[in-house]
Amino acid sequence: MPAIVLIGAQWGDEGKGKATDLLGDRVDYVVKFNGGNNAGHTVVVGDKKYALHLLPSGILSPGVTPVISNGVVVDIEVLFHELEALAARGVDVSKLLVSANAHVITAYHRTLDKVTERFLGKKQIGTTGRGIGPSYADKINRVGIRIQDLFDEGILRQKVEGALDLKNHILVKVYNRRAITADEVIDDLLSYTERLRPMVADTSLVLNRALDEGKTVLFEGGQATMLDVDHGTYPFVTSSNATSGGAATGSGVAPNRIDRVIAVVKAYTTRVGAGPFPTELFDESGEFLRSQGFEFGTTTGRPRRCGWYDAPIARYSARINGVTDFVLTKLDVLTGLEKIPVCVAYDVEGVRVDEVPVSQSDFHHAVPIYEEFPGWSEDITGAREFSDLPINAQNYVLAIEKMSKARISAIGVGPGRDEIVVRHDLLE
Ligand code: GDP
Ligand code: IMO
Ligand code: MG
Repeated sequence: MPAIVLIGAQWGDEGKGKATDLLGDRVDYVVKFNGGNNAGHTVVVGDKKYALHLLPSGILSPGVTPVISNGVVVDIEVLFHELEALAARGVDVSKLLVSANAHVITAYHRTLDKVTERFLGKKQIGTTGRGIGPSYADKINRVGIRIQDLFDEGILRQKVEGALDLKNHILVKVYNRRAITADEVIDDLLSYTERLRPMVADTSLVLNRALDEGKTVLFEGGQATMLDVDHGTYPFVTSSNATSGGAATGSGVAPNRIDRVIAVVKAYTTRVGAGPFPTELFDESGEFLRSQGFEFGTTTGRPRRCGWYDAPIARYSARINGVTDFVLTKLDVLTGLEKIPVCVAYDVEGVRVDEVPVSQSDFHHAVPIYEEFPGWSEDITGAREFSDLPINAQNYVLAIEKMSKARISAIGVGPGRDEIVVRHDLLE
């Protein structure tokens, strides 16, 4: 199974980092194909905990070549900070490849992200403030700066000056901020070029050749299906394609080379930032999930909004992504609940709706229709076989599997690398 895509099925933070790490020993390349340092993946290896943002989680596996492909927006300062921090902890980061076509995040993107959010006031999206949206906006507007531009100072100057022309008018006249000079941006970018040079590659060519040679490539999505700019809860989304199709456009590996699509899904639901969330809980059950699941953002530290499992969302993810396998995470967090509600459909203005509504207004007004399942109180963190789980936990998994329209091949029972129940081999 040479090309595998791994994405989030909900609103992010499903445990994609841990799932990638789980496959790390069996893959040759791990590719980050979308997003930037808005992502936050926590991976626990033995007694060591790693928090990754811009780098793919696969960097923690010694044999893996990590790749940042063309679909990513790269904050170069963050890139080097993250590489240095990992190297200081003994992780080999020497194999990293970065696409010449990836776009960069500069000071003006970070500033614009923050000031536009402030300007939106109550209507704000709750972005991570990392400059992600403004950098992708420049890419689509054809005024972005790409990694390859850093190696031609003349071109770089032309492009930065061109981009800043309009932006400085906006920063100064609309937002009352100081103008950013082309020189400060260019000097900052050029200070990294020599360190960056050996990593820069035609990553599409590298990955396609690797697949030709029978190597295994894992595409690791940042964010998740419901945050996808096309298929998520627009405008409360991130600015990239976090769904499986994004792996093809974001890497230059064609869709017909992709063999498997693994979606990571939590045994309940969380969301960071604003936007609709039908199963969100505002009572002590939500507090229970947040404290048991330690639901605080890896990137911004914000408390995550928490709610019950939403089967229409899992079904939607199965459809949009072509999911072959689900990895269900954090089942252990539900331990101790007497009853576990699962959203099976929505009530929209008195009408039962079984699928995620295409109209955002309908989704905003969707009230979950719940089915309740009996809980369990036994500690499940030691379970390694499906039959080790209490019968009520087994039944919960089987019920949501049936509703979610793809098999649940692995079940997370704790944050550790080995705290997992594997039902089907994810690569076969
Ligand atoms: P990602 O953004 O999808 O990679 O997910 P995050 O790392 O932001 O959030 C997932 C959190 O859940 C991390 O702190 C993981 O260590 C943790 N985690 C992953 N799988 C499990 C699991 O099965 N059980 C528990 N209790 N924690 C888990
Ligand atoms: P991982 O990869 C959860 C959310 C932000 C905000 C919206 C837009 O760890 O699952 P952005 O800064 O991307 O323009 O913010 O998207 N968001 C995430 N939420 N997990 C993430 O990544 C996220 N990346 C962005 O909170 O609502
Ligand atoms: Mg995360």
